Amino acid sequence: MPKRPTDHPADAASARNSSPASKPVLPPSPDTPTALLGNLTPSQFMRRYWQKKPLLIRQAIPDVEAPLSRDAFFELADRDEVEARLITHLRNKWQLEHGPFAPDELPSVKQRAWTLLVQGVDLYDDRARALLDRFRFVPDARLDDLMISYASDGGGVGPHFDSYDVFLLQVKGKRRWRISSQKDLTLQAGLPLKVLQNFEPEEEWLLEPGDMLYLPPHIAHDGIAEGECMTCSIGFRAPSASELTAQFLYHLAERGESAGNRGTLYRDPQQPAVERPAELPAALVERVGAILAAVKWKEQDIASFLGSYLSEPKPTVVFDPPHKPLSEARFIAQASKLGLRLDRKTNLLYNRRFFFVNGEEMSLNGTKKWLFDLANHRCMSAKRFVTLSHDSSMTARLHEWYRAGWIQVGELA
Ligand code: SIN
Ligand code: CO
Repeated sequence: MPKRPTDHPADAASARNSSPASKPVLPPSPDTPTALLGNLTPSQFMRRYWQKKPLLIRQAIPDVEAPLSRDAFFELADRDEVEARLITHLRNKWQLEHGPFAPDELPSVKQRAWTLLVQGVDLYDDRARALLDRFRFVPDARLDDLMISYASDGGGVGPHFDSYDVFLLQVKGKRRWRISSQKDLTLQAGLPLKVLQNFEPEEEWLLEPGDMLYLPPHIAHDGIAEGECMTCSIGFRAPSASELTAQFLYHLAERGESAGNRGTLYRDPQQPAVERPAELPAALVERVGAILAAVKWKEQDIASFLGSYLSEPKPTVVFDPPHKPLSEARFIAQASKLGLRLDRKTNLLYNRRFFFVNGEEMSLNGTKKWLFDLANHRCMSAKRFVTLSHDSSMTARLHEWYRAGWIQVGELA
């Protein structure tokens, strides 16, 4: 399919690989006031606003730049593995299409009232990942992804509510946000997307580049572009109780840890012959009830499940191992000069006894020192690497991760 001619060929290429990132901006420490949160400290923000009430922050990131140019963004939406949606609102009719979108499948940027949304841009672009990292005053286990939307004049996704917390950061152009704490969250029936039936805005702001709006779950909102614009949504995951229950039970069963039932097979030596074969036997229900009642778990099983589940990469994630990997000796020499960083797609969590990397659980035995730093900073300086490199189990493990494409040599992308 023909490619859209790009204004920024370099940016288009960078969207495919990774864009050059400058020195990462570290997340603010819990007790330091930060412009990102309107000069509140992260601790104050979490106490007063997180999951409680909206907050408008003017110039949260002054001089912010969109992680991708418009053309690089459109190119990203053309990739098979990327989750992209196109929403149009023409003659009062909402339409939703799922990507990938070849450039000639997108409306002209001169056409009004359409928006293109791409989920998980942090997985494809280092600048997007760096932007997401500024929000790591919230635990990684809660951080979901960075979505970018491009909208032509008048574009938006309609008044709706989300079930998760979100920071809506304006990175290009202007968008008018209207919000409401209304209790009526009835959706219009028969539409391909979630649009509220009765939206009664209570507050309204025009956001300019660098401005940001924090919304807790279930606050009704509607953002309409005034001229073309781009917005980054930093979203947090909020798995439902039923998702967690189903996944936890699956995890227990997979690990054969449904203690009390190990090796148990269903048995029915007392089953009489029946006249009504379609009838579910009451004894079967009773017996399975006893098997389920014997399922037991400990707190560590819950931690193991959460660590593995929440560090599992999204299904579309594919790591890019190095084409010509360095030998372990060369890797150590390079890391001693340049340090290391986690790949932008790598998820690394830990608790007191285990760490979880990209869905795999491993025992912490003896690894604590370097692992905690790497997980919390997402990089390791050359100096730190040299200090720790006498530990051959650490260098061997890091070399293994490097070969898998989970970490890279060099602190900066
Ligand atoms: C958008 O960026 O257009 C939508 C983001 C949202 O409302 O959650
Ligand atoms: Co929303």
